Amino acid sequence: MCGIIGRVGSDNAVPYLLKGLECLEYRGYDSAGIALFSAETIESYKTVGRLSGLREITERATPVGCVGIGHTRWATHGGPSVENAHPHFSHSKRFALVHNGIIENSNELAESELKGIEYNSETDTEKAVHLLEKYYNGNVVETISKVISLLKGSYALGILCKDHPDTLFCTAMSSPLVAAKTADGGFICSDAGALSAYADGYYPIKNGEICVLTKKSIEFYDQFGSSIEKKAVSIDVGTLTSDKQGYDHYMMLEMLQQPDAVRDTVIPMIKNNGINIENIDLTDDYIKNELHEVVIVACGSAYHAGVVGKQLIGSLANIRAQAEIASEFRYTEPLIDKHTLAIFISQSGETADTLAALRLAKQKGAKILSVVNVCGSAIANESDNVIYTKAGREVAVATTKAYSAQLAVLYALAIRLARGKGTMCAETEKRMTYELAALPQKIQQTIDRNIEKAEIYAQRFSKATDIYFIGRRLDYAASLEASLKMKEISYIHSEAYAAGEMKHGTLSLIETGVPVIALASDGEIFGKTYSNICEVMARGADMLVVTTEKNKHLVSEFKNTFIVPDTLPEFTVSLQIVPLQLLSYYTAKKKGCDIDKPKNLAKSVTVE
Ligand code: F6R
Repeated sequence: MCGIIGRVGSDNAVPYLLKGLECLEYRGYDSAGIALFSAETIESYKTVGRLSGLREITERATPVGCVGIGHTRWATHGGPSVENAHPHFSHSKRFALVHNGIIENSNELAESELKGIEYNSETDTEKAVHLLEKYYNGNVVETISKVISLLKGSYALGILCKDHPDTLFCTAMSSPLVAAKTADGGFICSDAGALSAYADGYYPIKNGEICVLTKKSIEFYDQFGSSIEKKAVSIDVGTLTSDKQGYDHYMMLEMLQQPDAVRDTVIPMIKNNGINIENIDLTDDYIKNELHEVVIVACGSAYHAGVVGKQLIGSLANIRAQAEIASEFRYTEPLIDKHTLAIFISQSGETADTLAALRLAKQKGAKILSVVNVCGSAIANESDNVIYTKAGREVAVATTKAYSAQLAVLYALAIRLARGKGTMCAETEKRMTYELAALPQKIQQTIDRNIEKAEIYAQRFSKATDIYFIGRRLDYAASLEASLKMKEISYIHSEAYAAGEMKHGTLSLIETGVPVIALASDGEIFGKTYSNICEVMARGADMLVVTTEKNKHLVSEFKNTFIVPDTLPEFTVSLQIVPLQLLSYYTAKKKGCDIDKPKNLAKSVTVE
């Protein structure tokens, strides 16, 4: 997490740094800071909390300098404080540094290379800046090369050195960082999208590479300090920063964009009444004869999409499938091999745990397929095959449209695998494809029918201290995501339970007035879920039921319902999640929460 930006140019760097940090604030917002050359020294300005605080400080101090670095922090080592805010300085003030990532051997360095050094902060970052000072030999590239040989972990570093007031240095290891050259100078940045207003292309800084940027030149070196050539990559317009288009929050805009996100994702995968996913190496022969098992690995909401994918791949394609949490999977000895298709789902394409899990699966010989929203991200780059979700840039920390687009890809994949395995006839594929193509319109209907109700129900839910979500099979998979949405933005404790599990312990928490949301779209086992609804109602639960048009007569006794259009049972998750996203949004709004930037979270999780 954390976002870093750097600017070299002929005019004042401060507005560029602040604008860049604004685009990067999704990466963390515990503190913000900038440092820039001013006369012979490097000056810094820092604040705890949001960028608006830093803006106020710089408006008052009016700093001016043409070369600078900036940082927006998601706290890992050391709490949010001015001392821990970046940039960090070496004691002589020769070096200033901003860092994204984690220096894993920070404690060991403090006991060995840096023994006796006093620190100004609790951060791991400070170790790197003191190492630069310790090994400085007049040549900054050589010094960086030496320092990165000592650092373990993932990091992107933006560096200023007092002896080179016209130069910006940077390096990266398993952490996103790009450099871009413009007519009058250039930038470094954690996210190419934040540079789209200034540059057409960028250079991704790969492991151990060092970049030296001045007004006139951009140079690259490998980790040993030898000069290298690099090719620029064009900035994808999909990464452009959007605005809120008049809505109070990005989350609302993004929920309303879900029909488009699903449509744009699905349409390229449909051809001749069936699924045709281009540019991926999943042949009928491979699916039929070599593929024995699918493992889906991801974090958070992407994992919840994976739970849906696993059920569909199992039931439609008759392939053994599992969904794994990346942070767990990466520390197991997974029983996978060349007959495993390992699917990694990630909006950002940067999530550290998912990336590490991908590397492990690759090492074990699995075929790698990733489902990613951000083009050119690390997960996409390291995958044998990539299917891009076309959700566009997602700014709100709580994902909505990217999750919906991930589901759409998983539906298509399940159908493709089923055809390859010979478990789905052409007629069924046609029917499912038709229904998949109709999903965007049905998501729109779901929004239109339920948005007002969601706002009304939110009045009650905002007073709750605990909310439970229950469902079975795919309804349970949807409950997991609905519950995460609720807790992450409204700060109300919530849990999702497989409906049949409640009586094995959690039922003891249900008392008069506790809200329980039952997802009961699964017609086949409606009766079973209904029994569980009765069990919680008997203990006084305040019940809200989500079901489909077809099943609505079964829930007519309930006062509070969200009814979603009928679709194939396999696709209902895509509809029932929508009113529950809206409910979370309005509940959080009612409570006055910071919806787009919930406390303690960040959009892209590049640390373990
Ligand atoms: C929750 C949310 C997170 C992400 C998770 C994985 O609303 O957005 O749970 O789903 O951090 O992120 P990506 O998809 O970028 O790998």
